[in-house]
Amino acid sequence: MKSLQTEGPIKIGLMGAGSVADFGHGPAIASEPGVTLHAVFDPVFERAVALQKKFDAPHAFHDRELFFSSGIEAVTICSPAPTHKDNVLECAKRGFPVLCEKPLAMTDADGEEMIDAMSQANLPLAVGFCYRFSPVAKEIKRLIDEKVVGEVRSMRLIYIWNLHGIYETDSNGAKIYSPQRTERMLEGGPMVDCGVHQIDLAHWWLQSECEKWSSTGAWVENFEAPDHVYLHMRHQNGALTTVEMSFTYCHTARDPISHFTYQIIGTEGIIRYDRDSGVFEVRKTNGTDYLPWSHEKNFEGMYEEWNRVMRTGEMGHMPTGVDGVKAVAISRAATEAAIANR
Ligand SMILES: NC(=O)c1ccc[n+]([C@@H]2O[C@H](COP(=O)([O-])OP(=O)(O)OC[C@H]3O[C@@H](n4cnc5c(N)ncnc54)[C@H](O)[C@@H]3O)[C@@H](O)[C@H]2O)c1
Repeated sequence: MKSLQTEGPIKIGLMGAGSVADFGHGPAIASEPGVTLHAVFDPVFERAVALQKKFDAPHAFHDRELFFSSGIEAVTICSPAPTHKDNVLECAKRGFPVLCEKPLAMTDADGEEMIDAMSQANLPLAVGFCYRFSPVAKEIKRLIDEKVVGEVRSMRLIYIWNLHGIYETDSNGAKIYSPQRTERMLEGGPMVDCGVHQIDLAHWWLQSECEKWSSTGAWVENFEAPDHVYLHMRHQNGALTTVEMSFTYCHTARDPISHFTYQIIGTEGIIRYDRDSGVFEVRKTNGTDYLPWSHEKNFEGMYEEWNRVMRTGEMGHMPTGVDGVKAVAISRAATEAAIANR
């Protein structure tokens, strides 16, 4: 794969100046010395300018051609899922390495087309599975690889929350409808939007493909996709993973709470991570190890790895386009099966 021979920081162009660009990619690019934010593109020019100012980037555009010819060397795609394909294909044509947000594609065929275009151009295509780079996820990988809890037989990966709530509060304190959750439900619902991270973690941790799955869904509201989904996967090595995702847990509550947990059950003990109560531990016959807790996402770690990938052409632990398609294919099929059995 082509690698960049840039001496200084790699000039990143960012497409889509919305929420994840603002809280995730912008700060991570700023913190990684190997990269720098050079240009921001958003069809809504004010958004591009706001991000440009916040992260001190030289350029902001609402014209895609000007963005591509502004001197950028690589592209981060943070636009909504239905626009990923077009943006990736344009980057492949112009020779830019791409880090694209999840869910990578709206269909398997689109995902394959994106992978083919990037691989024919000999360019890296990475997917923004930022959970892999959390110190917690990396430690779980090490614990599993070293069989600290024996053979893993079962994993429970749960995230039930309210996706920022269906209402936002406006500047007068009034409740107003939030379009964000509606958009995410129309793009496929919680398993497609968030569950892809857990499906990817299950593959990465166990290094074993899902050979069989089943799913069920519950409807709290009347979107086509279920807003609460259970996915049961059987891996080739015999281990089971359950992924449980909800966007409507406490969604009408004034004081919402959420649950984000990983539970890894092995023949000689368990690993437990609980984001909301700050627990990360290993329980075995000889006692309990309390491990350092950290947040489940890590955009900074992702850019550290992405900088290395772009300079060496070696993917290492960076999630690939193939990983992205695999995760989204299972998440979408699971959601469709739940809909069919409604
Ligand atoms: N990895 C994570 O933890 C994480 C978290 C949140 C969102 N995401 C993903 O990131 C993507 C963006 O989510 P968001 O919450 O920031 O959405 P958002 O709606 O807040 O922002 C999207 C931005 O993209 C712009 N846009 C629209 N069409 C575009 C196009 N064709 N090209 C470039 N920009 C375009 C919009 O004007 C908007 O400013 C989604 O795929 C989402 O699933 C990932």
